[in-house]
Amino acid sequence: MTVTEAVHTRAHIDLAERARQVLPGGATHASRSYDPRIYVARSSGSRKWLIDGTELIDYTMGHGALLLGHAHPAIVTAVQEQVARGTHYGAAHPLEVEWAELITALVPSADKVRFTASGTEAVMLALRVARAATGRDRILKLQEHFHGWSDAVSPFLDRDGRTRTPAGVPAALGLLTTVVRTDDPADLEAALAGGDVAAVIMEASGAHYGQLPLDPSFIAAARAASTATGTVLIFDEVVTGFRVAPGGMQSVLGITPDISVLGKVMAGGLPSGAVAGRGALLELLATTIAHPGTFNANPLSAVAGIATLRLVADGAPQRTADAYATSLAAEWTGALAAAGIPGTIRRLSSILHIFLGEPSAQARIANAMRAEGVDILNTSAFCSSVHTIADLEQSVAAFARAIVVASSPT
Ligand SMILES: Cc1ncc(COP(=O)(O)O)c(C=O)c1O
Repeated sequence: MTVTEAVHTRAHIDLAERARQVLPGGATHASRSYDPRIYVARSSGSRKWLIDGTELIDYTMGHGALLLGHAHPAIVTAVQEQVARGTHYGAAHPLEVEWAELITALVPSADKVRFTASGTEAVMLALRVARAATGRDRILKLQEHFHGWSDAVSPFLDRDGRTRTPAGVPAALGLLTTVVRTDDPADLEAALAGGDVAAVIMEASGAHYGQLPLDPSFIAAARAASTATGTVLIFDEVVTGFRVAPGGMQSVLGITPDISVLGKVMAGGLPSGAVAGRGALLELLATTIAHPGTFNANPLSAVAGIATLRLVADGAPQRTADAYATSLAAEWTGALAAAGIPGTIRRLSSILHIFLGEPSAQARIANAMRAEGVDILNTSAFCSSVHTIADLEQSVAAFARAIVVASSPT
């Protein structure tokens, strides 16, 4: 059965109707609220299967968390063994120590680590540490850069360059968050010059894991200006950490932040986040900042994280995923040219970003790809170390058809 047929079966329609009764918009995540909705029953390696058994090639890869693919045997075994030994001890345990040791060994900024339950929480904690360390209230973020959904990082610039906050976030919080554009480091330097900013937070890959690349000279300027003004420099490596290299984007750039925010790959597909930074900053969590959190360093996430970090520490899975993504980018670029459809494919390591020239085509590409049996995350494709030549061939054929469908007038 094709995906288009599968989403019109009675079982799928009934599930979507039940979802609408109990879930707002029938969904649990802004990026999963497209229609027609797909319902996944299981996943393995590079593939996932809908409730009726229809198979898709997956490039959402757990929103980027699954560098090693779905249900990697080492992670499955580690989690199965741990679940029987207990999922929450309400006490310190050896796994959190080993997990933190692996992170400090790999991530340049990481002298010490504090675990959280998600990337969003880790961002909140990093900002709290920076504010406590500096005694300053304001933070600075870059336009379009995404750091989860907490209030402090949600302000943005409107078309007229005014700071706005989204629905549900008080406008007053916009006064504490300065948003700067990324075309000229002088703007950032000027915003820091007063010495009243606690932290600069950025995706060192550029916004949305490399969709809008950031000039390395901008990042170097941010590092220098932060140091000169006593501002804490935070790299949000929730997506890039362990994926673009064992040491993350900071090791690729050769620029070390004061604090890194981690998530996704660090826990092998289970929920977690972490703040990993300079010892003097993180030690504030032992003295002046109380940080609870029921699921911090929970044993299940810990064993999945340990299994993953051991496997990715030498960089081999990243190289495999990067090579696959390089081939896929070349093929998809060729397909655009062959079809005469304006667009480009941008690649950051194992992540591809699709840009179609026509806004309507760009808006339709994910649905068109799903209809062809290939699931992408909005307009991005996360490749893994387990995607195969068969996946590549099918994904190229699917893309060639999907771009025509997405570009056709409705
Ligand atoms: C760069 C970045 N930071 C932070 C987050 C938030 O992480 P989480 O979804 O685990 O709360 C995300 C999530 O996609 C992200 O892409």
